[in-house]
Order: sequence, then structure tokens, then C-alpha cells
Amino acid sequence: FQRGSLSGKHVLINAGPTREALDPVRYISNHSSGKMGFALAEAAVEAGARVTLVAGPVNLPTPARVARVDVVSAQDMLAACEAALPADLFIASAAVADYRPANCAEQKLKKTPGSDDGMTLTLVRNPDILATLAAHPQRPWTVGFAAETHDLMTYAADKLQRKNLDLIIANDVSQSGIGFNSEDNAVTLIDRALNSSVLPRASKTKLAREIIARIADLMATTNKH
Ligand code: PMT
Repeated sequence: FQRGSLSGKHVLINAGPTREALDPVRYISNHSSGKMGFALAEAAVEAGARVTLVAGPVNLPTPARVARVDVVSAQDMLAACEAALPADLFIASAAVADYRPANCAEQKLKKTPGSDDGMTLTLVRNPDILATLAAHPQRPWTVGFAAETHDLMTYAADKLQRKNLDLIIANDVSQSGIGFNSEDNAVTLIDRALNSSVLPRASKTKLAREIIARIADLMATTNKH
């Protein structure tokens, strides 16, 4: 077989942040730009795959030959990912909000007139998209990211095992110039046997090509699909 080929495979990728509404004009979110996931989608197309890209609210053009589905919230992102199955490979690069406001007000929330009181928000857990797809009857070969500011390798290995993944991409998001909303990234791949492989700082485009080639090789050798 050809190194790094995903020819004939359906690859599902999610990217960007999710937005969790508080009221019609406010939301909770994070700094993900979607660049890493969009670069992975482009690289997967180059490797011969049919690609579905489920994107949170981002400001990026759709890569050529990619089928894009736009979503806003984590719950919508989960539904869109499940609707895109079956897939041979799922890569979860999205920065999904772990929590959402327990209630979304139908009208704009107002301050109490004449009061300086603070406000307490009640948040509830969002579904875990990655763990849900990894436990799905139509389980794809499943790759997660671990974005951490400390104890990167420990948390990444824990997520690999706890979420039952084939591969985790450990991403140190404490370093400036890489990670959220930057042009470059640097990651460490950790497989099920806990072998790790460092991919040093490079543009997200270049890094995505290397990640896709490694995944294609691993999928071929682990012979899952
Ligand atoms: O979008 P960019 O600006 O290019 O930045 C890229 C990135 C830093 C966002 C990306 O490289 C990255 O690390 N993505 C994962 C971000 C994240 O939310 O990591 P986490 O460690 O909190 O989550 C672990 C994994 O579970 C991730 O694959 C995540 O998609 C998934 N998850 C998390 C929570 C949840 N409710 N559902 C999920 O599927």
C-alpha cells in the first residue's frame, strides 16, 4: 500500500469551538479558530479520503472537496457527527465546551435596576462527542486531541484510555505561538501501546499532513478497517 493513503475512506473531522447560549445575545465559548481541524480536513482530502467536516462557529473558507456541516452548540455538533456516520476515521479536533448554561433565557438577561449584585450561572455538563463516537456501534478508528496547560502526557494518556481511543494527539496549549488560534502547532502522538512520537513546531498545514500520514499508516498496520 501507498504510505499515508486514505483512498476510499470516509473521514469525519470536527473543528473549532462550540458556543453555548446564555440568552439571545450572549454565549460561553473558547479561543479555538478551527485552523487545526480545517488543515486536517485538507490533508485528508490530499490523502485520497472523502471528508466530512463538522465545524463550530469559525471564520474560515471550506477546503476544496470537503463536505462541511456548520453547527453552533456541543449538542448540535454531536448530532451532526452521529448523522455523518458511518466513517472509517474520526478526528476530534474541536474544542467542545464541557459545560453549557442550564437554561438559555428566551429574552436578553437584564440587570436588576438599582442593584450592584453579582450573578450566578448554573452550568450543566455537555455530552462528550469523542467518547460517544468511540463507544458507538459504528465505531470509526478514533483519534482525540488533549489540550492541556500542565501535566500534558499524564492527562493525554488518561484521556486515551478513558475515552477508548486509538490515538491521542497531546497539545501543550500553555506555550505561546502554538495551539489555540495560532498559525503553528506542535504535538505528541500517543498510541494505544503508549508509544509516543513528537512532531515539532511547524505550520498547522504541514503538521496536519504528517498527522494524516501517520494515522493512515497506523490504521493500515492495526488493520481495523
Ligand atoms: O482551532 P485552533 O485555533 O486551530 O486550535 C487547535 C486546538 C488547540 C483547539 C486543537 O489542536 C486541540 O487541541 N483540540 C482539542 C481541544 C480540547 O477541547 O481538548 P480537551 O482536552 O478539552 O478534550 C479532549 C478531547 O475530547 C478532544 O478531542 C475534544 O474534541 C473531545 N471532547 C471534549 C469535550 C466534549 N464535551 N466532547 C468532546 O468530544
